[in-house]
Amino acid sequence: MATTRTLIVAGEAFPLAKTGGLGDAITGMARALAQADMPVAILLPAYRGVRARLQEIRVVAPLHNLPTGDARLLAGRCPQSGLDFLLLENDALYDRAGIYLDEAGREYADSALRYAALAHAAVRVAGGLPGIVTPNIVHAHDWHAGLVPLLMRAYGLHDTRSVMTIHNLAFQGRFPMECAASLGIPEPYRGSDGAEAWGQLNFLKAGIRYADRVTTVSHTYAREIMTPAFGCGLDELLRRRAGDLLPIPNGIDNILWNPARDPHLGALRFSVSDLSNKARCKAALQHEFGLAVDAGATLMSMGSRLTEQKMADVAVQALPEALERHPNLQIAILGQGDHQLEDALRALAQRYPGRCAAHIGYDEPAAHRLHAGSDILLHASRFEPFGLTPLYAMRYGALPIGSRVGGMADTIEDPGPRAPLSAMASANGLLFDGDSPAAMGEAIARAVHLREHAMLWRIMQRNAMSADFGWRSAIGLYASLYRSLAGADFRSAAPARADRALGAAALRARRRSGSAMPAPV
Ligand code: ADP
Ligand code: GLC
Repeated sequence: MATTRTLIVAGEAFPLAKTGGLGDAITGMARALAQADMPVAILLPAYRGVRARLQEIRVVAPLHNLPTGDARLLAGRCPQSGLDFLLLENDALYDRAGIYLDEAGREYADSALRYAALAHAAVRVAGGLPGIVTPNIVHAHDWHAGLVPLLMRAYGLHDTRSVMTIHNLAFQGRFPMECAASLGIPEPYRGSDGAEAWGQLNFLKAGIRYADRVTTVSHTYAREIMTPAFGCGLDELLRRRAGDLLPIPNGIDNILWNPARDPHLGALRFSVSDLSNKARCKAALQHEFGLAVDAGATLMSMGSRLTEQKMADVAVQALPEALERHPNLQIAILGQGDHQLEDALRALAQRYPGRCAAHIGYDEPAAHRLHAGSDILLHASRFEPFGLTPLYAMRYGALPIGSRVGGMADTIEDPGPRAPLSAMASANGLLFDGDSPAAMGEAIARAVHLREHAMLWRIMQRNAMSADFGWRSAIGLYASLYRSLAGADFRSAAPARADRALGAAALRARRRSGSAMPAPV
């Protein structure tokens, strides 16, 4: 059987750097691969503070003559995750307060350079560097790593395979084409059959175009992104690559997100067989958020980025009516994002003191307590590639109300409002269609009504808490993908036109000149 050595390239990995589900997915996947005896390392920018969180840190190599500027490659081990990391150190690019955004919440002006540098570093690693294992699979995630498959082709790394995983097609990394030369993207790769889209350089398109295989994180999202409604302009390219596009649903980390062992709950841990502490978690959450401490209230939370993707705008419209319609309903919001939506939710909380609270900010421990103390999680999305949050909520006995898109359509079981009430005994949450405040309001009303049926609610909670959403099945699929790629001989395939333009001769010439080229594997 072909052996695989995988280099994961990503913009974030929990707990070193996380802004959302991507960070969780990268670490969860890498840990599960490592546990399945598939060697893996993660290449990450050395953002501020990340070096200090690794152990056994050492300098692997200086990286001279990168088109994106000189850098160093460090290696170390993350004690919390037990994973091996490679860090790209370039303080001018990465030693900053935020990961992607400055203090004012604006995207850094040199994002293209920051992630082109990451891709060049990945190609150096793939080409072989003394002192570290040379990968035979490079697994690029989201637009931050989108240039990796392109540069691997351009530099003729034909013995190393590339996989591009789409976690969110809406973020593509679009920049003026004029910067392509300074980012070290060879001319033959800059056309409409390459990295260009709408006259711009598009990192994610480059990844989708040049990767040996493309994956995305749920079955429904894989189908959706091949349609104009969800394809964000790349649906045609995705349809062209349909034969190489695989859905591999994420898992969740069952150890980190486990109410029976969660350190963020202090002494108030609980499990599916003993929910007594969940009631105490609810009282603690009500107290923490300044809500009336009332065991009889139905406590619904929202915990997510406050953006239009997450229908925070729809929630702003639907929640006042829900609070009026259901006197027993309380709402706890934890999130940050669009400043206008943040303000609107703050204003809502002011209108309903004791019944609605909004904590604007990013707080990892609070997210755990939110799920532990809630009865319901409202997690509506216009599109949701996978959706880790509703699964975390389920583990903690908070039943999700989701919208029927992407991963939520695959993981939330709901026989629907027209089915007899007894059919809900097989449910683990609720789904609604579309993005109207009325549809969201009706779903909230259904949940409030269902909660009045204590026995049925308990059965639904049990379904949710005992469902297995771990990484095991995903890892089986990644393992067979990697093995099939590692065993495949792609050299027999005719090289693309652009590959020939930067073929072996160019590789040799560049190596002679000592410029930015990796040694071939
Ligand atoms: P996405 O990646 O699209 O934001 P997911 O549901 O897959 O959606 O993952 C979101 C992750 O980010 C979860 O781990 C969630 O707990 C976390 N998260 C989102 N907003 C916050 C916040 N304000 N504070 C703490 N954690 C948050
Ligand atoms: C993205 C998606 C989210 C998914 C996460 C991990 O951020 O928006 O749905 O769960 O990536 O794959």
